[in-house]
Amino acid sequence: MQGLDDATTVGVAGPVALAGAIRVPGDKSISHRALLFAGLAEGESTVRGLSRGDDVRRTRQALAEFGVRFTDEDGYLRVLGGLREEPSTVLDLGNSGTAMRLIAGVCAGQDMHTVLTGDRFLRARPMDRVAVPLRSMGATVDGRQGGRLAPLSIRGGNLSGIHYASPVASAQVKSAVMLAGLSAAGSTTVVEPVATRRHTEEMLALFGVDVEVDGTAVTVRRSTLTPAEVDVQGDPSQAAFWAVGALIAPDSRVRVDNLYSGHGRTGFVDVLRRMGGRLDFDRTTGTLEITSGPLTAVSIGAEDVPGIVDEIPVLAVAAAAAEGTTVISGAEELRVKESDRIKSTVAMLCAFGVHAEETPDGMVIEGTANRRGGEVHSHGDHRIAMAAAVSGLAATGPTVIHGWDAVATSYPGFADHVAELSGGAARLREVTS
Ligand code: S3P
Repeated sequence: MQGLDDATTVGVAGPVALAGAIRVPGDKSISHRALLFAGLAEGESTVRGLSRGDDVRRTRQALAEFGVRFTDEDGYLRVLGGLREEPSTVLDLGNSGTAMRLIAGVCAGQDMHTVLTGDRFLRARPMDRVAVPLRSMGATVDGRQGGRLAPLSIRGGNLSGIHYASPVASAQVKSAVMLAGLSAAGSTTVVEPVATRRHTEEMLALFGVDVEVDGTAVTVRRSTLTPAEVDVQGDPSQAAFWAVGALIAPDSRVRVDNLYSGHGRTGFVDVLRRMGGRLDFDRTTGTLEITSGPLTAVSIGAEDVPGIVDEIPVLAVAAAAAEGTTVISGAEELRVKESDRIKSTVAMLCAFGVHAEETPDGMVIEGTANRRGGEVHSHGDHRIAMAAAVSGLAATGPTVIHGWDAVATSYPGFADHVAELSGGAARLREVTS
């Protein structure tokens, strides 16, 4: 079963109970934006609580090529912003779709030539969704297959604002166009089919930009950013793994502290509550407490998807443990994530002895109490690897996960948290296969 990207295989055995309190890594989406906006603002900004995953490190490295300077202090990062230099090399954004699409928006606004690439998974993901609007603003964007695939070559500058009705509900597309709009003549408006996470809107305002939000439309004008201090709270998408783990692993009780609770990021809490899950969420302090208990199947539709877009693999693990049949629809965007997440999630569930089937825009999952450990492939996708680990902690017997390396993109400390919450009863150990 091993392939080229399976450098690391881990094993874990269940079932174990999970107990204790943890802090998950700083939010990945906010971390990328904190670095990018601090990089755009002339002067010194500070960022606390940044994600230490590889994705965010790629954004930092890319900004360094533009002349942005970083100093690691004890517990925070000082950023001396200003894009002073045209990068003299290709910017390698690893596995990060957010880095590539947001940086494409920044590059479109610069009188520079930049080339963006990534690993083989990122080079297979659609980039026309940003290339098309950036071209209509006046940037020259080329790439393989007519600009659909990276490497992308971007010649920017001299942009005009646009009114863009995005065909996809994507915060990355919205953000790329807004970032280009900061350097464009006139105003730039993006209208989304369904509202997505609002980090760019909230954080540009923190950096002194006037952002107008009207329903699903957002407008910016040519602006300069002023330096700011950013405190990055915990990543709700990472907390979702512990929420599901604590619900389905018997006799569990887990608390996650200091979570971000803003718009579009805590839909998983609502879905798990709809399933009958016992979750207490204090949105003011960002404290989420979860107690194990029975779950029942739900229907998840297109209107839910933008609010849980990254959490579906682990919500599917919850559905596999619930009583009844869960139907997920309107989720075709999952096909173009770090992996084809409809395919990779269904394959992962089947490995645990669960009956699950793909549909064109989602999946159907039959819940069962009899889940045995399985052999899973991450397909280079961090969220598939971690969802499989959570499933393995609650299933009976050994689970093996190939391609665990992908977890380093967003949650390098995940294995330590498994050991901590299981009181040492479960350890993700590297195995040779
Ligand atoms: C993100 C937006 C979402 C999400 C991704 C992070 C962002 O992607 O899946 O993990 O930071 O803007 P899409 O914009 O492709 O939906």
